[in-house]
Amino acid sequence: MNKFLIAPSILSADFAKLGEEVLCVISAGADMLHFDVMDNHYVPNLSIGPMVLKSLRNYGVTVPVDVHLMIKPIDGLISDFVDAGAHCISFHPEATENIDRSIQLIRKHGCGVGLVLNPGTTLECLKYVINKVDVITLMSVNPGFGGQVFLPETLNKIRQTRKLINAIDDTISLAVDGGINFGNFNAVRESGANIFIIGSAIFNSTNYHDVICRFRSMLPQ
Ligand code: DX5
Ligand code: ZN
Repeated sequence: MNKFLIAPSILSADFAKLGEEVLCVISAGADMLHFDVMDNHYVPNLSIGPMVLKSLRNYGVTVPVDVHLMIKPIDGLISDFVDAGAHCISFHPEATENIDRSIQLIRKHGCGVGLVLNPGTTLECLKYVINKVDVITLMSVNPGFGGQVFLPETLNKIRQTRKLINAIDDTISLAVDGGINFGNFNAVRESGANIFIIGSAIFNSTNYHDVICRFRSMLPQ
């Protein structure tokens, strides 16, 4: 199984001082960054795009960045995100006409590939492509907003996905995105996740270091 990683979602950061916020969360112990991109079409909200990622790279952000595309369509923006410094590009299967083509396009650019499944999306869509991706992200809220409540039925889906991964290739990472807090973190981990995408629980706190250390202390050593 892959390493446990804590991936702050910068959606809940203060955008007026984003560079500072990101460097702060990295020095507080973040393993990577989760970069939420929204288009007011695939999801009912707007956020940030490749120019912002490029600015963060120029500001000295060197950790891996997983770009979570909540946009439709996706193919036309892949090269821009790669040029801006994406390490992995994760997309929702419903947001592209052809899942396999989008996977190939991301790969062609030398980037990691992630698939993101909404709470109501079944695991069926993984069937023919699971061995072509690096990360499967299960949404534990409906995408579009930070600070939502974790949907408890996700735990069962995490367990099923973990079984699927272990049966095929246990180097595929299993990420969970949405509503993770101190109350459900253990259950998410015990169900089989190894990447924890956490937004408001980190950025709404006054001490990012304490919060990340506390989450990390809940992981097996
Ligand atoms: C929701 C985003 C998440 C979200 C996580 O659409 O994909 O990454 O910002 O934030 P919290 O932890 O606040 O749910
Ligand atoms: Zn996200």
